[in-house]
Amino acid sequence: MTTSYSLLNNETGEKVDLPLVKGTLGPAGADVGKVYDKMDLFTYDPGFTSTCSCKSAITYIDGDQGVLLYRGYPVDQLANHSSFIEVAYLILHGELPNKTELDEFDASIRRHTMINESLLSFYKGFNYDAHPMAMLTGIVGSLSAFYHDTTNNKDPKHREIFAHRMIAKIPTIAAAAYKKYFGQPFMYPKNSLDYCSNLLHMMFAVPAEDYEINPVAAKALDVLFILHADHEQNASTSTVRMAGSTGTNPYAAISSGIAALWGPAHGGANEAVLKMLEEIGDVKNVQPFMDKVKDKNSGVRLMGFGHRVYKNFDPRATIIREQCHKVLKELKINDPQLELAMKLEEIALNDDYFKSRKLYPNVDFYSGIIYKALGIPVNMFTPMFAIARTVGWVAHWNEMNADPAGLKIARPRQVYTGAPVREYQAISTR
Ligand code: CMC
Repeated sequence: MTTSYSLLNNETGEKVDLPLVKGTLGPAGADVGKVYDKMDLFTYDPGFTSTCSCKSAITYIDGDQGVLLYRGYPVDQLANHSSFIEVAYLILHGELPNKTELDEFDASIRRHTMINESLLSFYKGFNYDAHPMAMLTGIVGSLSAFYHDTTNNKDPKHREIFAHRMIAKIPTIAAAAYKKYFGQPFMYPKNSLDYCSNLLHMMFAVPAEDYEINPVAAKALDVLFILHADHEQNASTSTVRMAGSTGTNPYAAISSGIAALWGPAHGGANEAVLKMLEEIGDVKNVQPFMDKVKDKNSGVRLMGFGHRVYKNFDPRATIIREQCHKVLKELKINDPQLELAMKLEEIALNDDYFKSRKLYPNVDFYSGIIYKALGIPVNMFTPMFAIARTVGWVAHWNEMNADPAGLKIARPRQVYTGAPVREYQAISTR
């Protein structure tokens, strides 16, 4: 492997060395931080396709091989053997917990599930048909109006309390958004239940009746949450880091991540996939739809396909596909949309358009079918993603704040393409 790089001005012969920043796995980063000072030159990389914004020890992805590791552990091993709470501990702390550590962490998360009663009145300000992601963004942002005594970002204890509160409260906040949508009374958390069972309870129980948690549904959610827990510097996590780099209130930083997640190119894709399947409607319409996808003028994309980093199977999609078949079988659900999705996948994987662009199913292609089987409405799919990804956002925010070098305010440069300097003209002369 090359050990040194430099940037050469072909006209003047001037050269700037680019020191290598090396990690444990994957390509090194060429440090271009001094290029502007030394060459009066910016580097240009819209969408950050080749740019590392930070060093991180949390998650590793090899997009060509379809590898995803949390703190070194392959995601499929975690999905098969671990639990979401254990994975949350791992992502936050860097190591798998022993029994005592896990019990203490689990107990702390269970203890922090309630939200301040006055927050419940915030939901009243939303119209009944507000998208739950709009409510999530607003309510999580408004958590920044509380907890003033524990938001010193430099204090590790404060950061830990914030992490536990955020991970514990996000299901309560999302479930309340769901209840608002249906006009049902808000259900308080029941801390005897595990994380995903508690979420199901808050969403589906009503005060008038007993509600029994379906263990198949709770387990399916748990696996989905493990798979969504972190994905290194994706758009929402980068947004949390960027907002956090200003030293803003941590709940406000998480709220900015939720806003970024909402878009259909990111976490909103799970909702977009289900809408796409509804629109296609029948297997006989699959081929005409695929023709539209391949027509660049149509602006139609095959949602749930393609990824900025994976140029091979998204390892999460492989696990979710299996889970999808398992859950539907266990719940005895025959969903024609699964057949549609499989047909789309089959056509895409054998089509030159998709093969040549290395477009494969991503994490969102099958997750919506599972959520639907669990009785979760389409507009709650992205909030489900947000609940799981909160672990990653919090871990990255914490990692950044724990490292003083990581706390440099994120402030990209630009290539200016506007008008050159010109004189102000009085309105009478325009
Ligand atoms: N359907 C049809 N064509 C596609 C698709 C797709 N889903 N994705 C990419 N392409 C084409 C694109 O038109 C371009 O073609 P060409 O080279 O001829 O111009 C080429 O593939 C490269 O695409 P790109 O948009 O430059 O790639 P990107 O890395 O900027 O975008 C992406 C990645 C995920 C935004 C994109 O693949 C996409 O829009 N997929 C559908 C939305 C989706 O499923 N998003 C969820 C991502 S995974 C979960 C998450 O991260 O939140």
